[in-house]
Amino acid sequence: MADVDIVVRVNGQARRAKVPPRLTLADFLREKCRLTGTHLGCEHGVCGACSVVVDGEAVRSCLVFAVQADGAEVTTVEGLAGPEGELSVVQEAFREHHGLQCGFCTPGFVVSVTAFLEENPKPTDEEILEALSGNLCRCTGYQGIIKAVRAAADKAAAGEA
Ligand code: FES
Ligand code: FES
Repeated sequence: MADVDIVVRVNGQARRAKVPPRLTLADFLREKCRLTGTHLGCEHGVCGACSVVVDGEAVRSCLVFAVQADGAEVTTVEGLAGPEGELSVVQEAFREHHGLQCGFCTPGFVVSVTAFLEENPKPTDEEILEALSGNLCRCTGYQGIIKAVRAAADKAAAGEA
């Protein structure tokens, strides 16, 4: 099949490319956009390491073809920090509450949690656990991650974000 011209807005910047129809969004971001913060773990929708936000919704970019994102607005982990590199509330909370060890899973968690808190700014503890259930971490035992999400939500609710 012939390559397809696409334009995807990634972190506010239009990215044009001619891509094979079966190129995944994850590979498009990593290889064509050089945004390697989006990690690939399982490559079949289980681990959440490849999570990015597409038109406001967290998706697993290993399960989406780049052509499906034609015309969409995509935010990767690289797009979450402020213009001077200031950490976002969620990133800062992960740092402060030891929500990471090796860091492999971290971009996926940070992206998913950011989308989750935008949709549900005042989550219960149960909702946080449910929201985290789609991302896997082999290192932390999750306690630091859970604390980080609680702290980020509380900070946002207190108007400090
Ligand atoms: S790499 Fe996409 S869900 Fe694991
Ligand atoms: S910090 Fe290592 S996999 Fe999560």
